[in-house]
Amino acid sequence: MPTLRLPGLVDVHVHMRDPGATHKEDWDTGTAAALAGGITAVLAMPNTAPPIADAESFDGALAQARKKARCDYAQFLGAGPETKGAVFHAAERAAGLKMYLDQTFGPLRLDEMTLWAEAIEQWPRDLPIAIHAESRTLAAAVLMAHLYDRPLHLCHVSTREEILLIRKAKERGVPVTCEVCPHHLFLSQADIPRIGEGRAEVRPRLAAPEDQAALWENLDIIDVFATDHAPHTLAEKDGENPPPGFPGLETALPLLLTAVGEGRLTLEDIISRMHENPRRIFNLPEQPHTWIEVDPDAEWEIRGEAQLTRCGWTPFEGKNVRGKVKKVVLRGSTAYENGKVIVRTGYGRNLRENPSEEP
Ligand code: DOR
Ligand code: ZN
Ligand code: ZN
Repeated sequence: MPTLRLPGLVDVHVHMRDPGATHKEDWDTGTAAALAGGITAVLAMPNTAPPIADAESFDGALAQARKKARCDYAQFLGAGPETKGAVFHAAERAAGLKMYLDQTFGPLRLDEMTLWAEAIEQWPRDLPIAIHAESRTLAAAVLMAHLYDRPLHLCHVSTREEILLIRKAKERGVPVTCEVCPHHLFLSQADIPRIGEGRAEVRPRLAAPEDQAALWENLDIIDVFATDHAPHTLAEKDGENPPPGFPGLETALPLLLTAVGEGRLTLEDIISRMHENPRRIFNLPEQPHTWIEVDPDAEWEIRGEAQLTRCGWTPFEGKNVRGKVKKVVLRGSTAYENGKVIVRTGYGRNLRENPSEEP
């Protein structure tokens, strides 16, 4: 098959670790990894150190991004237990509001229902909200979308009960959208022995093979494929208290293209879930003169060592895939070609800033 040209992919769920844990990743290495994976825009999560839950930390993260990012981006604000009005001033400049209803990496967690209601009531109705919720809290989030009649985007759906609940909700017109991560599509608990217990820690956890199968059976309900790229170093993953999370920026598209080759997905499924739907749900501007070129027949082996992410490993180590990103053109410039990132740090632009306002 000849080279394929696809639109620049958008990853709505990425942890950049900048500021606070740049030994794991920063805006430079994270966006270089994105480009290598055919991703031209990333939405960055707020569970950094400090967490991005006030105007000051928000501006601090954006200052790093402005200096270092190589692809386009926007930054989420996090609703923390102490978040008050201040964060809502920056609403228009944020990718959206991220609400953590369950415990995960970092201190941003809202464990009282009153806090959920307050955040939903205060955040402007027309701006996106993304929710980390699992199982019963996900059911509560669906109910909130219904009661407030306001769109909520449900992150990293991973189980049969969740995807079937979302199907029911959508059938009843509840305004929810959802994303699924490649690691929940391509891995399950059955892979934990091979990956290793500590390395396999991720939230939501790798699920049962039946859950994995249910995601594939309900593809029509999945609006978005997002990586939840959550880099931690191997020393951390193999240490005493392994933090949860997998890198994913460089493996998502090759895994999905391999599934296309196997007849389990279509290219259109990828384009809708990594370009069209993310843009619509998060109201992102078009990236003009932006596309990626892919060799659909190139066969290669995934190796953590060869990745551009700073974390230096992958749960897909040794997996053979078919489909390789050859070239990425971002706003008219060749950003990546044949294994090399070409654009400089600082080339990436904030998708929530008007180009004329940029310094
Ligand atoms: O596995 C995860 N890692 N799940 C999350 O929700 C957070 C993430 C992280 O930031 O490391
Ligand atoms: Zn999460
Ligand atoms: Zn995440």
